[in-house]
Amino acid sequence: MFKYIIDNDVELQLLDLYHADEIFKSIDSSRDHLREYLPWVDSTISISDTREFIQGSKKQYAANNGFDTGIWYKGEFAGIIGFHSINRNIKSISIGYWLNEGFVGKGIMTRACSVLTDYAFNILNFNRVEIQCAIDNLKSRAIPERLGFVQEGVIRDGELLNGNYVDCVIYGMLKREWV
Ligand SMILES: CC(C)(COP(=O)(O)OP(=O)(O)OC[C@H]1O[C@@H](n2cnc3c(N)ncnc32)[C@H](O)[C@@H]1OP(=O)(O)O)[C@@H](O)C(=O)NCCC(=O)NCCS
Repeated sequence: MFKYIIDNDVELQLLDLYHADEIFKSIDSSRDHLREYLPWVDSTISISDTREFIQGSKKQYAANNGFDTGIWYKGEFAGIIGFHSINRNIKSISIGYWLNEGFVGKGIMTRACSVLTDYAFNILNFNRVEIQCAIDNLKSRAIPERLGFVQEGVIRDGELLNGNYVDCVIYGMLKREWV
């Protein structure tokens, strides 16, 4: 999966080092929006941090242990969605995502998440897709809810965000439920 055209507006591309400049600029222009729910934003200080992240992501892909894709909306870099936390015993995989503030409210992430869920079940042959959201991150929670994921439970103090523990809601979709 090097490039996946979702529709006329939205395209996914496997991350590579030549994307580092536009990804870093996007993070840098959207820090206040991103830092509320993403613990790595304040430690992303220069483009070399973004290069390091992409290198890690490429290694993860090479090890068949998940991958990250950039999201382009009408030709502009909009955010990232990727697969992580693979459990091969139960064929489970997690999806994580973020959008630059300027691209929120257009349904981009719901479409991207639907495509990756489909890819997890039908191409990668997983049985379970999981999405974890901070309990008060209503915009993020709306994505699995819109796609019919089941709210399975709450992990108390499941994330450390800006120095505070926050509860996290777990959403799950099983292959047999995905139509
Ligand atoms: C979480 C995040 C990706 C949600 O972004 P989003 O734009 O709300 O999600 P989508 O791209 O799916 O868009 C849904 C919105 O577009 C609207 N929309 C427009 N066209 C749509 C379409 N074709 N399909 C679905 N929704 C559509 C929806 O009504 C919704 O708007 P609303 O919230 O005003 O009701 C974004 O807020 C973000 O990156 N936040 C910071 C980082 C973060 O929290 N990451 C997640 C950590 S778990």
